[in-house]
Amino acid sequence: MKERPIGIFDSGLGGLTVFKEVKKLLPKEDIVYFGDTARVPYGTKSKDTVTRFSVQDADFLAGLKVKMIVAACNTSSSFSLPALKRRYKIPVIGVIKPGAQKAANATKNLRVGVIGTRATISSGIYEKEIRKLNPKIKVASASCPLFVPLAEEGWLKGKVTKKIAARYLKALKKKDIDTIVLGCTHYPLLMSIIRSVLGKGVRLIDSATQTAIAVKKIIDEKEMRNPKKSKGRYRFYVSDEPELFKKIGARFLGSNIKNIKRVDVGA
Ligand code: DGL
Repeated sequence: MKERPIGIFDSGLGGLTVFKEVKKLLPKEDIVYFGDTARVPYGTKSKDTVTRFSVQDADFLAGLKVKMIVAACNTSSSFSLPALKRRYKIPVIGVIKPGAQKAANATKNLRVGVIGTRATISSGIYEKEIRKLNPKIKVASASCPLFVPLAEEGWLKGKVTKKIAARYLKALKKKDIDTIVLGCTHYPLLMSIIRSVLGKGVRLIDSATQTAIAVKKIIDEKEMRNPKKSKGRYRFYVSDEPELFKKIGARFLGSNIKNIKRVDVGA
């Protein structure tokens, strides 16, 4: 079991932000990543569809004999985590709880903001998880659908992006929040523009970093650390042509991506 890889899946390449953090914290673990690039985005789809896709994605990873499954996609985690947890004997973890926990601990004035895809925000999951931890916390949320294409285009700065961010975050700014959860795989790339709009007084919680910490905790608790001395090996699978994943993914990961294969998981 210990020698098996960790499996991470996402609707596309956004989950590479989670991959990057897991790799940083657990450099000796082998990791298999699956990105459902043929069916991305999930953030505009219904609960049923997202759950069906997520189960197929996770089944693919389970078939590769991973020791743990990480749903790196916020939208998948919002809708399909209970179904995934029921389905496998190995640990399954999503990105919502780790981010919610950090936000609940971080807020001083008990006002937290959450941003994510339309699906994630409409699910109300962050609010539910945060208020489970502390019912006194007031949660305000906003969906920011254009942040995903902006991050993929590499439009991380500049007038247009700032204008869009200002418009999306306008209502949240009025809520006196002191903490905000970046509840989407792509948003860590837009951190500096989000910070410039909200001001330095608002703490940004990146769910990718928090999820990696939670993955490490589970691996240690279950004594599943890979005992090998050498660095981890990485494999990437996508459901569409790998070219774009390779190109844009390198920006998300901060390094080149090798070992990408196309697979069909929906059949
Ligand atoms: N990975 C998705 C998320 O974190 C963003 C992209 C999509 O809509 O599929 O919610």
